[in-house]
This record gives sequence, structure tokens and C-alpha cells, in this order.
Amino acid sequence: VTIHRPALLLVGYGNVARRFVRLLDESRADLDGLGIAPYIAGVITRHHGAAFDQAGLSEAQIASRLSGQPGPTSPEFIAASLDRLRETPLCVVVETTTLDIRQGEPAISHVRAALAGGADVVTANKGPAAFAYRELSRVAREAGRSFLFEGAVMDGVPVFNMIRETMPATTITRFRGVVNSTTNFILTAMEEGEPYADALARMQDAGVAEADPSLDVDGWDAAAKAAALANVLLDADVTPLTVAREGIGPETGRAAAGARAHGRRLKLVASASGRGRDAAVKVALEELDPADPLAILDGQANALEIDSVPLGRVVITQRDGGLEKTAYALLTDLVTAVRRRAGAVA
Ligand SMILES: NC(=O)c1ccc[n+]([C@@H]2O[C@H](COP(=O)([O-])OP(=O)(O)OC[C@H]3O[C@@H](n4cnc5c(N)ncnc54)[C@H](OP(=O)(O)O)[C@@H]3O)[C@@H](O)[C@H]2O)c1
Repeated sequence: VTIHRPALLLVGYGNVARRFVRLLDESRADLDGLGIAPYIAGVITRHHGAAFDQAGLSEAQIASRLSGQPGPTSPEFIAASLDRLRETPLCVVVETTTLDIRQGEPAISHVRAALAGGADVVTANKGPAAFAYRELSRVAREAGRSFLFEGAVMDGVPVFNMIRETMPATTITRFRGVVNSTTNFILTAMEEGEPYADALARMQDAGVAEADPSLDVDGWDAAAKAAALANVLLDADVTPLTVAREGIGPETGRAAAGARAHGRRLKLVASASGRGRDAAVKVALEELDPADPLAILDGQANALEIDSVPLGRVVITQRDGGLEKTAYALLTDLVTAVRRRAGAVA
């Protein structure tokens, strides 16, 4: 059996990346069984410096090497590291930086630098698919490399990968979903009379809410996911800034409780219909009939309903998300990228 040893460059080393590194360890036997033995060659952060070792870095070595000294910019680091790794047949950039919702950066520049340097790239960041899917997927295709982002929507539940790998020759006409855990949790809590601020604080304590909670409650996170889904599934060319967007606030509690009193549920729904330039993408509060598959979602649950020809309606539900699931999405993307390259480098 050929063993592939992809060298990984971790761009961003926060919650998701650290969980991913532990998951690689926990999954070592399964990865061995697939003939994949990844190692970490480099790490770069924004405020904590960078580390590189062609021989590989352990979790403890990363912790001791990240120093806080300002280093190169991350695109420079990616380019220089990939140059030093030019004899290595398989390099994968694992991008997990924080998202600037107005521009999709710095992740877009990281994906460009990775592909330009000959690497495959996997990311949990919504920015690249939400702002620059057409460009980046074209560049990846021309380079013969992967650009994968399963973790950007519904954590580890396969959405993009399931549709791409298992639904060939389908046309998706429409989707709608509850894709933001924090707002669904707050809406559920407010139905029961819990104050908005208390429910939001619980999500922040649990590390589920984004560092800047306005990204969740003002609908930005849902808009970024809707844009990514529309760009990929409907061949749209939108950004989060062009998605019609609504959020939730303390005043939404009354409507949520009122809907519940009538057996209905108030949900923040991300949806799109039409294809290409005709795609209309929005995030809006909707009062749902109790039989609606999105109406049964409590707490942090997510779901996505897809209409397609000829398959009809498919609903994917995520009961519980979280860091290890997002880390798992990166792992599945890593396996996909290596398998695609395996034939070429065997
Ligand atoms: N947390 C989740 O459950 C979850 C789920 C799905 C998707 N995501 C997405 O995954 C990504 C990472 O989330 P996280 O929770 O791991 O965030 P985090 O804990 O805040 O970590 C972000 C990391 O990115 C680094 N960084 C930021 N800007 C950078 C730059 N220009 N160059 C190099 N490194 C940079 C930060 O470095 P410093 O610490 O030095 O600033 C930090 O190491 C985000 O895009 C998030 O939306 C997260």
C-alpha cells in the first residue's frame, strides 16, 4: 500500500485548528488504514508568530515555538513555506482564520497563496466561498488542486461534499435552512421566556457565538453561509453584502413566544431560489407551520432543505454541532484532497 504523507500548513491556530490537530492524532489508525499519514510542517497566527519545521511539528513543539514575535505576513509565510517544501509531493494548507465579513479576508488571500504555491487548500472559513467562489474554484481547477470548505456550513455534516460526490447530474433549484446555531438557540430560549441577553450570554460562554456576537444576531453569519451555498449550489455570484438580511434582537422574543402560543415557530431562515444571475438570496425571520422540517429544530440544531431535479426534496439535519465536528469537516476535506491527488503522486 502506498502511504501518502501530506505536509500540512496551518494558517490560523485557534479553537478549530487546535481541535483539528488533536483529531488527527485521535484518527491516526483510521488515516493509516486509508494510507494517509499527515504531518504538520508549519503554523502561522496573527499575534502569536509562526513556526516551521520540514521534519514535522508536534502539538507541544507548536505550543513552545509560537512566540508572539511578529513574523512574516501569512501570504508571505505560505509562499515561503511551500517553496521550502517544493520536493514534497503533497502539501495541504489548512485555513482557519477569523473572518472579516465585509471582505472575506484574510482567508481569500490565503487560498490564493496556497493554490499559487501548488498546495491543495481546505478551510472552515466561510469567506472564500461566500465572496470569491467563482475565482477560487477556477484557479484550483486550472492548477489541478482542491479548494474545499465543508466546515463553512453546518460544521461536520456533509453538505457540499455530499451533493458534489453523491448527487451527480442533479440541478438544484432552491434551498432553505436554519444555519446559525446561536440565533436558533436564542429564539428557542425566548419562546420559553428567557431574556435575550441571558440566552446570548450562554452561547458566548459555550464558545458557540462568534467573538463579535453581532455577526450572529444581525444575520451576517447566516448571510455568509447563504452566499456560499448559493454560489456553489445555484451557480450564483453573490456576497454576504448583497444578501437581503434580517437579524434578531430582544424585541424578537415577543414574536417568538407569540408564534409558539399558536403552535408555530419563529425561525431565522436562510434561503435562495433561482439560478445564476437570477438567484435571489435572503436571510429572514419566518413564522413556520409546525409540520415544516425547519420548525422542529430546537436549540443549536441546524437543517438544510434542498430542492433538486430529478431527486426532489432532500433535508439534511444536524442535531448538535461544535468544534470537533468542524475539525472533522477539515479532516474529511483533507482525505478528499489527498485521494484526488493520490493517482498523480503514487
Ligand atoms: N468555532 C467553531 O465552532 C466554528 C465552526 C465553523 C466554522 N468556524 C470558522 O473557523 C474559523 C476559525 O474559528 P476559530 O473558532 O478557531 O477562531 P479563533 O479561535 O479566533 O482562531 C482564529 C485564528 O486565526 C488566526 N488569524 C487571524 N487572522 C490571521 C491572519 N491574518 N494570519 C494568520 N492567522 C490569523 C488567529 O491568530 P491570533 O490568535 O494570533 O490572533 C487565531 O489563531 C473561523 O472562520 C470560523 O468562522 C468556526
